[in-house]
This record gives sequence, C-alpha cells and structure tokens, in this order.
Amino acid sequence: MTSSIFLDAPWEREDNNAYIARGGYSCAPAHSSGELLAVLRDADLRGRGGAAFPTATKLEAVLAAAPPARPVLVANGAEGEPFSFKDRYLMRYRPHRVLEGLICCAAAVAADQAFVYTCDDRSAESLRAALRERDYPIPVSVVTSEHTYVAGEETAVVNRLSGGLGLPTDKPPRPFESGVHGRPTVVLNVDTLAQVAGLVHPTAAEDGTPASFLASVVSIAGEPALYELPEGTSVRELARDFAGQEATFSAVVMGGFFGGMVPLTDENQVALQFVPPPGSDTALGCASFFFVDEAQDCPVAAAADAAAYLSRHNARQCGPCVRGTATAAKALESLCTGKAAESIRDDFARWAEILPGRGACAVPDGVARLLRCLMTAFAPVVQTHLAGRCERCVDLTASGRRRSRFALTF
Ligand SMILES: Cc1cc2nc3c(=O)[nH]c(=O)nc-3n(C[C@H](O)[C@H](O)[C@H](O)COP(=O)(O)O)c2cc1C
Ligand code: SF4
Repeated sequence: MTSSIFLDAPWEREDNNAYIARGGYSCAPAHSSGELLAVLRDADLRGRGGAAFPTATKLEAVLAAAPPARPVLVANGAEGEPFSFKDRYLMRYRPHRVLEGLICCAAAVAADQAFVYTCDDRSAESLRAALRERDYPIPVSVVTSEHTYVAGEETAVVNRLSGGLGLPTDKPPRPFESGVHGRPTVVLNVDTLAQVAGLVHPTAAEDGTPASFLASVVSIAGEPALYELPEGTSVRELARDFAGQEATFSAVVMGGFFGGMVPLTDENQVALQFVPPPGSDTALGCASFFFVDEAQDCPVAAAADAAAYLSRHNARQCGPCVRGTATAAKALESLCTGKAAESIRDDFARWAEILPGRGACAVPDGVARLLRCLMTAFAPVVQTHLAGRCERCVDLTASGRRRSRFALTF
C-alpha cells in the first residue's frame, strides 16, 4: 500500500513548504460545506478517536441545529489511551495535515474559532511552529492539558477549553448543543482531521481513499511500532508482522481499553475495520493494540491490569464506575493469584450487564466489554485460572512488569 502518512521520511517533521510541495493546502478550504460533507459521506469516514462515529453526521448535527452563535471546531489530540501514540505522531511529524483538516471542517460549519487540544508538549511545539509557518483563515489556538486517561473525552475537552477542569460531564448536552463557553462545538480527533485532509486533495502519494489507518502496536516485551494499514487487514496478519521471528501472541487487547480482547488463533481472522460486522463484540476504537505474548504474558493478567488501570485512572466522579471498575479489577486480580471462586463467572456476567451506560463517560462500558470477552472467547483460560495458580501470572507479578505494562513513552 502506498503510504500517505509516513511518506519517504517517516521521522522527519513535514513543514509547510514540504506539505505544499506535495499538494497540501491546494483545496482547503475551497470545498463548500455540501461538497465536503459529500466527500466525507462517500468515503464513510469514521472518527478515529474511539467511537467510529460518522464524521459527516457530526458536522451535519451542528449545521442542523442552526446555532445562534458561530460554532467552534476542536481538534482532539489528548490521546489518553496509554498504548496509543498515533495522534502524537501526527501532531509532531505531520502537523499541517491535521491543521488542513481542521480548517476544512471549520469552514464547512462556518466556525470562527478553532483549538487543538493536546497533553503533549512536543506536539504543542510542532503545532505552534506550523501555525507560525502560514496564515490561517480563522484563529487557531493550541491548548495543553494535564495528561490523564479521561482528559480526551469530549465533554472533558470542552470543560477544559472553557476554563474548567478536564473532567467528563453527563450528556446531554452534547458539545454540538452546548460546547466551549456554551457555543456549539465540533470535537474531532486529530487523526480524523488528518484523514479529512487526505480526502480533500488526493495527491500523487495518496490513493484517495480513507481506507488506511494508523495503528499503535505494543506488547510486554517488544518495541512499540506504528503501522499504516489498509482497513480490513486481519488482526492475525498484524500480529505476524509485529512478532517477526521473535514472538507468538495468544491474544490482543483492541482499540485501547474500549475494543475488548480477542484470542489469536489461526482460525481467528478478525478484520480490522471501523464498522465491525454484526454480532461482533470487539471494536477498532482508536486502533491501538496490546498483544499478549504467549511465552511471557497472560490474557487474564492483561485484562486484570487493564481494569486496574481504569480503576486507578477513572475520574472518581460517578459512583457506579468508581465502585464497578474497582470491584472488577479486584476480582480479575483474584483470578491471577489463584484465589477466585467458581462464582466469579456469575459476578462477571452480572457486572457485564449492569455496568454499561453507568458513567458520565464510557469507562464502565469498556470494563464490561472486557469481562464479556473473557467469559466468552477466553472461557477455557478462565477455567485454568480457577483450577490453580497461573505460573505466568506469578512470574509477571514477581518481575514487576504488570504495573508498568501500560507505561508507554513516546
Ligand atoms: C474516557 C474517554 C476518553 C477519551 N479520550 C479521547 C482522546 O484522548 N482522544 C480522542 O480523540 N477522543 C477521545 N475520546 C473520544 C471523544 O469523546 C470523542 O468521541 C472524539 O474525540 C471525537 O472525535 P472523532 O469523532 O474524530 O473520533 C474519549 C472517550 C472516552 C469515553
Ligand atoms: S464514568 Fe468513570 S471515568 Fe468516566 S467520568 Fe465517571 S468516574 Fe470518571
């Protein structure tokens, strides 16, 4: 596949001149609102921030609301998922692509102000440099925030940009109804915006479709890797490529902590696509993947560590989430230490049922999905952990690698 993001020099920051030389900013924001929406709809562009919501629909919602105030456009580069780094890659190395997408979408909804929101100083620096490199039709500000797990949830983004704390609040109202300082606001992930830029001006280096995506890939042992993949790639193919000759994997935690966990068997050819097939309980989410190494890691430990991470990093403001994630994390830990009772299956089933929708943000839904995956796709592994202590869990805990498994630095 021709790379439209990495180009020939993946680790070189693309400045304004280089971006223009390959066709950048040639159309933006020349597309009328209707034209841009048609392009996005035809391409079925889905948000890359986690929920895969159709981007055109989000823009249309603001237009349909016929707001009294001019809307605000926000590029969300918070990237709170601990093993995702594709957004930071784009902001640091391809800032103009993000900014072009931003001004195209801003023009489509007649926004008169835009923000790029990030928790990464190097991204902020690169974006501010890009903003100095050329003139933009509307004011664009780069705003930084503390790096927390929930800082990138859209209402948290709106709260922070309105001068408050970066914490989620109940919806409605959604940002398109009442966002930054009460104004209608469109929040789009920076990767989504980079895709918009690719769609509005297919250049020689691009094939004109949004069918590729950036995938952040990590495991407990290997070096993190960033891939640009065609949509539809099987998770097995990705695992093979990432493993090289070095490793085999038993499972993968998908889409950050929201996409569930799938076993990696030869039969399991889960296709990586933003709209999962009917009946699937996994999601591509923000396209970050934590591969569970067969020799050194354990799917139950990975699920326990994910739940423990969410329990430590939730915003501590919704009772069911605070209690639910902590209880689930504790129960999963009891499986790792061989202390769980058979009744844990009933507990998992109950929590998987009651947790979804019980918080201001989707953290409890993510935990519920992990539990559902464990009960269905990993039932035999759970059974082994009920039968006795898992040696791999013992080793992992003793080596201290469990607590640091999601401490990725990029
Ligand atoms: C707990 C939580 C954390 C989130 N963190 C991010 C984030 O760091 N970056 C992001 O773009 N979206 C994040 N989202 C999703 C945003 O709420 C929002 O859906 C997204 O920014 C919209 O952009 P998109 O439509 O382009 O995906 C998060 C959602 C939740 C529930
Ligand atoms: S659901 Fe959980 S993580 Fe989300 S805002 Fe409430 S307490 Fe925080």
